[in-house]
Amino acid sequence: MKNKIENYIKEVNSFSADNLQELEDFRVKFLSKKGIIPALFGEFKTVPPEERKEMGQLINELKITVQKKIVNLREKLKASSHNEKQLYDLTLPVNDNLGGRHPLSIVRNEIIEIFSRIGFSVSEGPEIEDDFHNFTALNFPEEHPARDMQDTFFIEKDPDIALRTHTSSVQVRVMENNQPPIRTISPGRVFRNEAISARAHCIFHQVEGLYVDKGVSFTDLKQTLFYFAKELFGEHTRIRFRPSYFPFTEPSAEMDVSCNICGGKGCNICKYTGWVEILGCGMVDPNVLKACEIDDREFTGFAFGMGIERITMLKYQVNDLRLFFENDLRFLNQFRSSVD
Ligand code: DAH
Repeated sequence: MKNKIENYIKEVNSFSADNLQELEDFRVKFLSKKGIIPALFGEFKTVPPEERKEMGQLINELKITVQKKIVNLREKLKASSHNEKQLYDLTLPVNDNLGGRHPLSIVRNEIIEIFSRIGFSVSEGPEIEDDFHNFTALNFPEEHPARDMQDTFFIEKDPDIALRTHTSSVQVRVMENNQPPIRTISPGRVFRNEAISARAHCIFHQVEGLYVDKGVSFTDLKQTLFYFAKELFGEHTRIRFRPSYFPFTEPSAEMDVSCNICGGKGCNICKYTGWVEILGCGMVDPNVLKACEIDDREFTGFAFGMGIERITMLKYQVNDLRLFFENDLRFLNQFRSSVD
């Protein structure tokens, strides 16, 4: 019996496990109810009294050796599995699951790029605006019904602080701080208290444009926007202007582009008219120049404003504006390969 136990001790000492399963088998072999050690304790009963002390000590030594072995090996296996995780396989192909630009960012960047090619800088303003920059300086008189044109999210009343309802407020900030020549576009987020639907949202994005210098005319406005439309929608794009009204421009117009889906023949996107409206524009009202302390006898200017969602919908034939805000990867992944 002594020999047998000593051999077990040797076996245990030289044992090593490659994985947790092997270690578990080892534990079962020695320590489980039907394992070697309980069996030895069983045999112990038949040991003559004079050998009992020695045998008892040996069996205990075996048991402790087995237990220590298990603890040691378990630690080692854990540590090595941790190390494995830190090993990098540099031969693996590069992960192509990187994010892509949001469609609104793609279109915003494209608009910025087109205007920067003809000398427009980019300017930004705050999303929380005071009444002066959002309305008053833009020639919305106090109590004028034009202020109702936009449902506003007010943050404070008297003095009025609100989420800006349009990026036209950035025009005011630029003109307050710079003398002409001014040629700038202002992309940004705007807010209106509207019910959310496929065609409207309470948060959306606009790009405002402003050009103020000596002798700027409506012809400059038309040519600039014609160039923009062709760059954005394609060489064959035509434009037309319809008279409109905005408090901050005089005269004012809305610009349509020939429908890029049907080429002007008529389809459900353009409601069979061949034209789609993409922006509002006009000559900066002299009152706006005055409010910003720019001499309206010396300078004239044009301004325009467009919705990025609307343009993105036309360009990519998206028929529900809410898709831009839901972050559904099935929608967003369709834009992954687009240039930005
Ligand atoms: N601010 C207008 C809006 O939110 C858009 C606009 C129209 C901007 C005409 C302009 C402009 O600069 O000249 O509906």
